[in-house]
Amino acid sequence: MFLVYNQFNLEEPFDAFVLGIWDQPVRWSGLLGEINERMNHQLEAIFKAGEISKKERSIGSIFTLGNDGTRKIITVGLGKKGSASIESVKESLGKAFKHLNGKAETICVDLSSFLNDSLSSEEVAFALGEALALSTYSYSGYKQKSNEPDKEIEKVTIIAADKGDELTPVLETGYIYGRATNSARTLVNTPANMLTAADLAEHARRLADTYGFEAEILEKEDMEKLGMGALLAVNQGSNQPPKLIVLKYQGKAEWKDVIGLVGKGVTFDTGGYSLKTRDGIVGMKTDMAGAAAVLGAMEIIGETRPEQNVVAVIPATDNMVSGHSFKPDDVITSLHGKTIEVSNTDAEGRLVLADAITYAKHHGAEYLVDVATLTGGVIVALGTHTTGAMTNHESWFEQVLEASHAAGEPIWRLPITDKDVKRIRSSKVADLNNSPGREGHAIMGGTFLLEFAEDTPWVHLDIAGTATSKSSYELGPSGATGVMVRTLATLVDGFTPIK
Ligand code: BES
Ligand code: MN
Ligand code: ZN
Repeated sequence: MFLVYNQFNLEEPFDAFVLGIWDQPVRWSGLLGEINERMNHQLEAIFKAGEISKKERSIGSIFTLGNDGTRKIITVGLGKKGSASIESVKESLGKAFKHLNGKAETICVDLSSFLNDSLSSEEVAFALGEALALSTYSYSGYKQKSNEPDKEIEKVTIIAADKGDELTPVLETGYIYGRATNSARTLVNTPANMLTAADLAEHARRLADTYGFEAEILEKEDMEKLGMGALLAVNQGSNQPPKLIVLKYQGKAEWKDVIGLVGKGVTFDTGGYSLKTRDGIVGMKTDMAGAAAVLGAMEIIGETRPEQNVVAVIPATDNMVSGHSFKPDDVITSLHGKTIEVSNTDAEGRLVLADAITYAKHHGAEYLVDVATLTGGVIVALGTHTTGAMTNHESWFEQVLEASHAAGEPIWRLPITDKDVKRIRSSKVADLNNSPGREGHAIMGGTFLLEFAEDTPWVHLDIAGTATSKSSYELGPSGATGVMVRTLATLVDGFTPIK
């Protein structure tokens, strides 16, 4: 995909040449000067006429009319040079690739033109790789007539004045991060009749085969033997058997300092007898986005092979209504042993995660992150751009926060107080209540999970708001975002054991 040069070869033709434009006077020397010469100073004239916007994320298109081997120049406005962040550069690049997708096969990017004093070639190269994969993603779905573009960007030549081949692996790793995010997006976009718990397990098995992970898939009978009463209760009303998916990646000589990644894999959430409304139920095929995030991260881990130990645990089932379903007022017993009064069958995510968290600990997880489309409450609290986070451990949370910054996926913390814990323990008939009222129910979701994480360093990520996007954006189309794939992979990559 990527080829790095430190010089532009004007003889080599590209479908498009991509150029970053900072909000400052253009210097007509070097590469730009050369192209301008070739174009009989027409490039300079177009700029002087004010045709090209230097505003952040603005795309311009200049046809070179054969004065240059390259058919057109795509300018990417970058705004003020001093203040630009890597996120804004990534989004600008994404917008350019989106613009070119379907129209160009070979492109050349002048990487040097995207740098400023605080952004290194490596950072921008990584962002470019990510942006290329993310921005050109589309979900093909099941239309008889395919909506896939017939021209895809196949070859990207990078001009990096001060660098050479050493940038290639950086570009490729960024591209791997983007592509794994796209895999997660596709899982989430796939309708629930095409993606059952068994299908999710099948996907995990394929990852295990490809990357040599150890895989363990628990069947319903195994869960019964182990006593996974919470996961089984949610599955009770379904015709589809549940699966508990475990993938192990061992990157250290010994199985210690194990990171447990737990992802909610509810393939469809009707709410159960606490049935969702006709509007609320639409889109609930995305209720396995946590599982998709974990599987996407495992794909990156399989490709990049960090020196870390990771166990991924995914409880997979749908939440259906039938004569067999669990009901409000039922009391169930979790794998941990704690009993749970089910006040609301629509608070099913925390139930399946409870058993998965316990099982991750059985597999040696010493640090936990769970990712889940857990509550509508987190959307009310934080909106659709920020993932809600809760924790029982400051320095473990710091590592997750740092990873989320690096990945450009913002998270924000919600509190867990002793009074919240008291509320979760307020059942008259069981140890816990899965839904003690709607007040602060994003916090109640996290607090319930804390009962199972206990003293193990743990961060809960509620992605109900961030897992999907209503509209398209620079780095993707509307639909699944693949949020937290890159944060989890970054976390694992940079992990340092605490203690
Ligand atoms: N899967 C939903 C949360 C959700 C809502 C995800 C909207 C994506 C978009 C979850 O299982 C749920 O139903 N949560 C309830 C919890 C309540 C019953 C305590 C909710 O948020 O209403
Ligand atoms: Mn629910
Ligand atoms: Zn749910």
